[in-house]
This record gives sequence, structure tokens and C-alpha cells, in this order.
Amino acid sequence: MREGKNAASSTRPRGQAVVLVGFMGAGKSSVGRALCERLGWAFEDLDERIERREQRMVAEIFGESGESEFRRAEHAALKELLSELRAGAGKVAALGGGAFAQEQNARLIEAAGVPTVFLDASVEELWQRCREQAERQGTKRPLLGSRESFSRLHQARRPHYLKAFLRQETGGKSVEGIAAEIVQALGLDRNRLGQGSLDQSGLDRGSLDRGSRRRGEKQ
Ligand code: S3P
Repeated sequence: MREGKNAASSTRPRGQAVVLVGFMGAGKSSVGRALCERLGWAFEDLDERIERREQRMVAEIFGESGESEFRRAEHAALKELLSELRAGAGKVAALGGGAFAQEQNARLIEAAGVPTVFLDASVEELWQRCREQAERQGTKRPLLGSRESFSRLHQARRPHYLKAFLRQETGGKSVEGIAAEIVQALGLDRNRLGQGSLDQSGLDRGSLDRGSRRRGEKQ
């Protein structure tokens, strides 16, 4: 593990919150839940907030209204989430794969002073995880596309992800191991609110290559 390329100019951890970023299949939801279990914090998936606010599934927003409408909804949901983080106690938030690649979202997070963690993996591994989730769990990802377009999108977004405060390698590691490394890197083990005893019933404790059981969907 090491800090992201531009860590010097990135947000330093100071609050009881962490934002997880990275491409589709990076394991943001699974790792987020494992972090929350360790820290006794609450977990939030930004896509779920978007779905609640919009009263539609992410795939429906893309299909009926297009990506630009989804990005508008995503930005509004992120703004709302960050305003709650300022006031509230420990929370880990997982953002959808495109959120941190939008400059205005990255700026909002930076201004909120919340540390960001980029979950990194090779594009081949990300593709395999997404394909597996689609086949085994029926996970719908509107931007999954072909292997070639997936690669192109990954390449275009990676420089944005590298602006995160911390880059966490995930390739071949267990969810629990990744969470432990993040806790240590951010010094959160010295900073705990209480025991991490939340019942995270859907948590996948195994490798990211195994499917998350929660919602039959994302990891
Ligand atoms: C997106 C990724 C999805 C979801 C939406 C757009 C993207 O989230 O936000 O389909 O632009 O990469 P995951 O990264 O959790 O799959």
C-alpha cells in the first residue's frame, strides 16, 4: 500500500468517515462493510441513496434518462451524504465507479475533508469479477460494455482515482485483509469509536473473487 500519487495535495484524514472509490468490481461495498464491522461504523452505498432519492434503480435511470441524468442525481446524492457526514458519527461510504472521476464530485469530497481510498486492481481482475457477478448474481452494470470499452473506461478514469488520499492494492487479497490494511494505513485503529460488533449479515469474508451475497449484487 502507498499513498496516491497526489497525496500531498489530497485530503488528510481528520474525521470519522472514509470514502471508497475505484472502478466497477473494485470491491468497494464488500470492503466498506468489512471496515464498518471492524470500526463499529455505519456503511453507505451511494448508489442506494441515489435509488432511494430517485425512486428508480440505477439501471433504470441510465436506461430511461441517460448517463447525464444519472450523474446529476449522483452529484446531488453525494452533496447530501457529505453534509450528513459532517454532522454525524463514523461512516464508510462506497461511491459508484464513475463518481470520483467527475471533477466536481472530487472537489466536494476534498472540501468536506473526508479521506478517500482508491481500491486498485488490474483491469483483467476487475473485468473477471464483474463478469462473474453478472453471471452468478445477475448484477446489472449499465457501463459494463465489452472487454475493450471496459478497458478504455478504466484507463481514462485511473488518473482520477490516483488522486485519492490512499491507494489500496486489492489483487488476490481477502476482503478482511484489505480492510485491516486500510484501518492501519489511516490510523483508524488508534481512533476507534467502539467495538466493531455490527451485524453485517451479508458480509463476504472471503476473496473478492467470490460473489457478495448482499442484494445478489455488487461487491
Ligand atoms: C458506474 C458504476 C456503478 C454505478 C453506475 C455507474 C460507473 O457502480 O454507479 O452503474 O460509472 O462506473 P459500481 O462501481 O459499484 O459498479
